[in-house]
Amino acid sequence: MCGIVGYVGTEDAKEILLKGLEKLEYRGYDSAGLAIVNEEGVHVYKEKGRIATLRSVVDQNEEGVIGIGHTRWATHGVPSQINAHPHQSASKRYTIVHNGVIENYAQLTREYLQAVNLASDTDTEIIVQLVERFSSEGLSTEEAFSKTLDLLKGSYATALLDSESPDTIYVGKNKSPLLVGLSDGVNVVASDAMAMLQVTNEFVELMDKEIVVVTRKGATIKTLQGDVVSRDSYIAELDESDIEKGTYPHYMLKEIDEQPYVIRNIISKYKDENENIKLDEDIRQAMLDADRIYIIAAGTSYHAGLVGKQLIERIANKPVETHIASEFLYNMPLLSKKPLFIFISQSGETADSRGVLVSVKKMGHKALTITNVPGSTLSREADYTLHTYAGPEIAVASTKAYTAQMAVLAILAVDTAKAAGIDMSFDPLQELAIVASAMETLTDKKEVLEKIAREYLSVTRNCFFIGRAIDYYVCLEGALKLKEISYIQAEGFAGGELKHGTIALIEDGTPVIGLATQEHVNLSIRGNMKEVVARGASPCMISMEGFEDEDDQLVVPHVHDYLTPLVTVIPLQLIAYYAALHRDCDVDKPRNLAKSVTVE
Ligand code: G6P
Repeated sequence: MCGIVGYVGTEDAKEILLKGLEKLEYRGYDSAGLAIVNEEGVHVYKEKGRIATLRSVVDQNEEGVIGIGHTRWATHGVPSQINAHPHQSASKRYTIVHNGVIENYAQLTREYLQAVNLASDTDTEIIVQLVERFSSEGLSTEEAFSKTLDLLKGSYATALLDSESPDTIYVGKNKSPLLVGLSDGVNVVASDAMAMLQVTNEFVELMDKEIVVVTRKGATIKTLQGDVVSRDSYIAELDESDIEKGTYPHYMLKEIDEQPYVIRNIISKYKDENENIKLDEDIRQAMLDADRIYIIAAGTSYHAGLVGKQLIERIANKPVETHIASEFLYNMPLLSKKPLFIFISQSGETADSRGVLVSVKKMGHKALTITNVPGSTLSREADYTLHTYAGPEIAVASTKAYTAQMAVLAILAVDTAKAAGIDMSFDPLQELAIVASAMETLTDKKEVLEKIAREYLSVTRNCFFIGRAIDYYVCLEGALKLKEISYIQAEGFAGGELKHGTIALIEDGTPVIGLATQEHVNLSIRGNMKEVVARGASPCMISMEGFEDEDDQLVVPHVHDYLTPLVTVIPLQLIAYYAALHRDCDVDKPRNLAKSVTVE
């Protein structure tokens, strides 16, 4: 969601910024822009739509070795050329890009900017107008920038250019992520290290309410009060090849195919030399000490959290509640005496989850983050982190991060059970190896799944997914995948609940995808499928070896009862992928969606 890049060095800034913006496309955006500084002044280009459109309007002869760029996911003001960033101050001296939401923008406009004609509908524009106002009152640019940021309520990651100091980028952040990248005689700014790996792999993280003055010679971090902060840089453990599609037509397909390797990677990372689970002692103790676990997450990670509840309760015998982050923040349940919070987040940047983390930390509770990005905000701010080792996930629709999260949750559950002295015959490391092979069998069945997608989903307006027990949670995820990328209205339902209302929507030919992997509910879910078939539905039953019926459309390999979601989700991911292709949808960049949702 929104992305920032900035470059100050010796090479052609526009090309580096455009390439950087292309690397941020995966976050989701609806317009893009950049500003280049040279002897003639600051030149701004911005367009609604894709980076390719922006590229086509940027003057190829535009020279300049310093600039900033932005991808915008609209919050205040429709996606349009006018609302796209960068925004400029009235005199055009200052130029800014911004991610986040300024909650008090209306009040600040009333208080300070009555005399200014705002050019856009964005909250961002007021930042640049405020900087101009304070600098016209005699403050230096740095002072005016700090004063402005100090007045803002809400979230921001922002980069500012001043045409009167054409060798400097001023950077600030609060809540929204931002990194400064360092190299020899070249420094960069990026929302995500991936965007600037083309220049450097050495980065410095910024903390909330810090500003940085970035020039070719260096980057000075300060507090908003002007105190210099010293912080070590780190090397991003990312390879540019990790973020390329290779021969795949889409990142999503590549990431679906990577799942067996991810699971094997997790096994190796969480195994010690005696083939036992390797986990931080402090995490083990925190799990043991807790009288109740609260899992907090959003989107696909929330669906992994639902499976996590089952795993921890069934394996470790500890009560768990799984909550949607954005709801928990404003509707907190009565907490137990010794809660432990587990945040599940692919990106580690989701603003709703972070809101909960900040508030439970204030209450003095311990927090563990399970994430794919260990240096992320949720990871840094929690007491403990478990890494999902899935490698960068670029497609907006999450696939490998979901299965990786569930694998790590299974390992955590068993580790807790063992530490609590519960007799355990289930070995998650061995069972996950079986899961990895089962995943491979399914990723090899693309032709079958493409055919299912074509037959059931090419023309339909809606689709239902039904399952019981743990299969129900996978149905929620299967429906989300289909909605996200094919725009088919899809719902996941508990098989038994369907007839209490939703069955009214079943018509002749309505596709209903059923999951049957659990012995104890096999007969009842098949009964539910019969109920919809009797009302005209087209049934597509996906079952597990051992519980199959001869009419089932797909039988997935048998894996341990606890781990079935890691396997059954693969056909659902592929069905969604092919349904989107058949409907000519942009699989990796679905409309209206962002990969990393950094606003509430
Ligand atoms: C966005 C993404 C989803 C993701 C959710 C939570 O909505 O499009 O794919 O599941 O955010 O993201 P997180 O990074 O916290 O897992």
